[in-house]
Amino acid sequence: MSEVAVPTESPAPAPDLEAFWMPFTANQQFKTNPRMLVAAAGMYYTANDGRKILDGTAGLWCVNVGHGRREIAEAVHQQLLQLDYASSFQMGHGGAFQFAERLVKLLPGDLNHVFFTNSGSEAVDTALKLAIAYHALGGEPSRQRFVGRERAYHGVNLGGIAVGGIASNRRFFSALTPGVDHLGHTHNLEHNAFSRGQPQWGASLADELEAVVAKRGAETIAAVIVEPIYGATGVLVPPVGYLQRLREICDRHGILLIFDEVITGFGRLGVPFAAEYFGVMPDIITAAKGITNGNIPMGAVFVRQGIYDRFMEASGIEFAHGYTYSGHPVACAAGLATLDIYEAEGLFNRVQTLAAPWEAAAHSLKGARHVIDVRNLGLLAGIELEPTEKPGARGFEVFLRCFEQGLFVRAAGDTIALSPPLIIEPSQIDQIFSTLANVLNQL
Ligand SMILES: Cc1ncc(COP(=O)(O)O)c(C=O)c1O
Repeated sequence: MSEVAVPTESPAPAPDLEAFWMPFTANQQFKTNPRMLVAAAGMYYTANDGRKILDGTAGLWCVNVGHGRREIAEAVHQQLLQLDYASSFQMGHGGAFQFAERLVKLLPGDLNHVFFTNSGSEAVDTALKLAIAYHALGGEPSRQRFVGRERAYHGVNLGGIAVGGIASNRRFFSALTPGVDHLGHTHNLEHNAFSRGQPQWGASLADELEAVVAKRGAETIAAVIVEPIYGATGVLVPPVGYLQRLREICDRHGILLIFDEVITGFGRLGVPFAAEYFGVMPDIITAAKGITNGNIPMGAVFVRQGIYDRFMEASGIEFAHGYTYSGHPVACAAGLATLDIYEAEGLFNRVQTLAAPWEAAAHSLKGARHVIDVRNLGLLAGIELEPTEKPGARGFEVFLRCFEQGLFVRAAGDTIALSPPLIIEPSQIDQIFSTLANVLNQL
C-alpha cells in the first residue's frame, strides 16, 4: 500500500485555539486540554507529542482506505492543475460523469442515477426534497410528511434535524422541523444484549409504521428514512426482518424508503452498500464519507430509475436544486482515485474475512468492567457501558484514556463506537480490544 510519508521537519508553532468554534465539541473543555493531531498514515494518526494513535474509527467513519494515500493525493494535485473548478450548472466536466457512471455500478438494482452534494447532511436534505417533489410530480402533492426514528442521526441541516431523532440536536428548532413522526428505536438490552450480528428479536417494531400511516393517512407521507445500522447513536444493528418489514409497509402505501448509508456505504459490511447486505431495496440511498475516503468533502444521493424518469418528464430545469460544488472536479478526482483503491485492494469485500475475528474480539469484552452490551456487524462495533449518574461521562472518560494509550475511538454517549479503516490488520484488531479492555479495567 502506498502512503504519503509523515513530515519529519519540526512542527509549526502551536496555534492560538480561540477563534475556531469547533463543531460538536465542548469547546471550553477542549481548549483547556487540547488533543492535537499533526499527521496520519495508514492506520495511524500522529499526535503533536509524536505518539502514534491507532485509528479505531476511520477518522469519523470515513477514512475507509486508510490515511495518507498517495494515489488520492496525486489525483487531487493533478486535478487542481488541470481543471480546478467548474460549475455543474448548465456546464459539464468529464470527471463528474465518469465518477457517476462508476458509482452507480456499485449500487443494487436500478439505483442508477446520482445527485452530488458536499456532505451527508446535504445528501439527506436533497433526498427529502426529491421525495416530496417526486410525489408532487406524480399527482400526489399532499405527500409532504416524513417518518424518521428516535435516536436517528441524519446530519445537521434542517431536513436532517427534522427526521433525526436526537433530542439535543432538535432542541430549539421545532418551528422549522414540523411534519415528521418518529418510530421508536430498535435498541433493547433486555431482549438483545450481547447479540452477535443481527439480533433475533424486534422485527415487529417496524409495525409501528402501520400505526403512523393509520394516524396520518398514507396520502400525506412522502418517505420513511432510516440508517440501516444506526451509527452516531451507538451502532444499533437492525433486528432480523425489521428492514424487510419496513419495505413491505412502504410498498403497501406508496411511501418511498430512504436508506441513509453515510456510514454503512462503501464496504463497511463486506459489500459496497448495506442495502445489498440486508437484501432490501430502498428507493433512495444517501452516501458521503467513504465516497472520497473523507479526503475531500462529498456526498451523493442515489435514486432508482423510476424516480429519475419522473423528473425527466418535465422540460427545462427538471429539479431546481444543486450546490455550487455539486460534482466538484477535485472531489470527483479524489472519489475516482478512492474507487481505484477500493477495487484494486478488494476492500469492498475485505470485511467478509475480517468480520468473524472482529466479532470475536469485540465480544471478548463481555465481562469487562462496566460493559452492558456488545453489538457488531461487518466492521462496526458498539461497546455499551453502564452510565454513571451523568450520562455520557463514562464514554467520554474511556475515549480520553484510550487516546492517552494510543487508540482513537468515538464515544457515542456511553457507547464506544468502533469503525476502523477497512485496511486494518488482525494484530491491530487485537490492539483495539486489548487497549479497551485495559482502559475499562482501570476505570
Ligand atoms: C447516517 C448519517 N447521515 C448523515 C450524516 C451527516 O453527514 P455530514 O457530517 O457529512 O454532513 C452522518 C454523519 O455522521 C451520518 O452518520
